[in-house]
Amino acid sequence: MGHLEGRTAVVTGGSTGIGLAAAVRLADEGAYVFVTGRREAELEVAVKTIGTDRATGVAGDIAKPEDLDRLYEAVQARGTGLDVLMANAAVGAFVTLEETTEKHFDHTFAANVRGTLFTVQKALPLLNEGASVILTGSTAADHGMEAFGAYAASKAAVRSFARTWSNELKGRGIRVNVISPGWIDTPGGTAINGGEEAMPAVKDHAAATVPKGRMGQPEEVGAVVAFLASEQSSYVVGTNIYVDGGANQI
Ligand SMILES: NC(=O)c1ccc[n+]([C@@H]2O[C@H](COP(=O)([O-])OP(=O)(O)OC[C@H]3O[C@@H](n4cnc5c(N)ncnc54)[C@H](OP(=O)(O)O)[C@@H]3O)[C@@H](O)[C@H]2O)c1
Repeated sequence: MGHLEGRTAVVTGGSTGIGLAAAVRLADEGAYVFVTGRREAELEVAVKTIGTDRATGVAGDIAKPEDLDRLYEAVQARGTGLDVLMANAAVGAFVTLEETTEKHFDHTFAANVRGTLFTVQKALPLLNEGASVILTGSTAADHGMEAFGAYAASKAAVRSFARTWSNELKGRGIRVNVISPGWIDTPGGTAINGGEEAMPAVKDHAAATVPKGRMGQPEEVGAVVAFLASEQSSYVVGTNIYVDGGANQI
């Protein structure tokens, strides 16, 4: 028996990278998982990877309220409520302060901040007593990596949300926590860093600067998500767990 037998989970941005690894792990622990993403083809592959008998894909953009409504209509139709919500989908790009446009700022905050807020707000009627909400933050929120200002600020907002929402939802036994990945080897991370050809240099940088001596794997984040999703973390509330190989810690 897994730790999440009979539970229902949602993972936004569950079609690739960290979200997909988390969805696979939640399903391995026994949960039925709804995964989202904007690209339908990637979502279809993800559902096959997780298992068509234990996952449903609902295509959509977290920045569009009507897409979130469609997601939760699908969850509601299952009739079990929602036990685990991983609000994970986000966008990011390296843009300096000088280069930042209103469009870049609005795009970043529409998904990462507004989208995360309404992902959780719209789930409230479905969340069962004792549910676990996991928000994906980033180590970028608390170090000043150049040209990552809008993204880092959006993730600082996500970290802040977890404190307020933990307080607001404690009466329902709902726990809200953040995971903050460091350098994790994902398709999104590769794209942000300039594509496959840029990755050897990124990996060398991680080997030189991360105490663990390498980039992390999405599955290493998925394991922490499974911990936060289950009763094993019953006394963990409003916190931020770094999955960064020690990068921000020493
Ligand atoms: N990789 C890292 O090193 C790292 C480090 C710190 C934090 N993070 C965070 O970890 C999370 C996952 O990132 P990742 O590295 O796994 O990236 P990824 O491989 O690009 O995965 C991102 C997922 O989110 C979906 N997505 C993106 N924007 C969306 C939107 N507006 N609405 C709905 N779905 C959307 C993507 O699918 P579509 O593109 O099809 O929509 C995909 O499923 C993000 O919150 C990211 O900020 C990553």
